[in-house]
Amino acid sequence: MTVLPLTMMDSPVLHQKAKRVRKIDDSIQKLIDDMIETMYQLGGAAGLAAPQVGIPLQVVVIELPESGLITLINPQVVKSSGEHEVMEGCLSLPGYRGSIKRAESVTVKGRDRYGKEVRIKAEGLFAQALQHEVDHINGVVYVDHLESMDNLYKAEPEDDDESGYI
Ligand code: NI
Repeated sequence: MTVLPLTMMDSPVLHQKAKRVRKIDDSIQKLIDDMIETMYQLGGAAGLAAPQVGIPLQVVVIELPESGLITLINPQVVKSSGEHEVMEGCLSLPGYRGSIKRAESVTVKGRDRYGKEVRIKAEGLFAQALQHEVDHINGVVYVDHLESMDNLYKAEPEDDDESGYI
């Protein structure tokens, strides 16, 4: 497994829609393994989308206490409800956090790494991470949701690590 370099906010790949995966072959399995390794190496990261490692494909990995380690291929939000203000950070914009609105709960449909169709209903942080990662594969980043640049904050030095970034 290989730790992949992260793309940063100024990279075009983060602002374009990623391609659907048509066949979950060995190269996709390797990409998933490398993404998991990369997420672990970033200690405390809650998730990672393929465009964040420069690959314009619809593949995401998430790991939270409430979700365990999951891989989603071609995920899409099929239902969302409620709305709340959340603090969010992204591995592609280290040192910043923003206050944005997210749905409180979502249902996401996609496939796991074995090609099996999955449907996940989530709330709270898990729902937030799912929305963040599905956004990534659609070329949307959380700063696109900021109502004002006043809602973007420099992280305090003491919490300036990757924890909580997705
Ligand atoms: Ni992100």
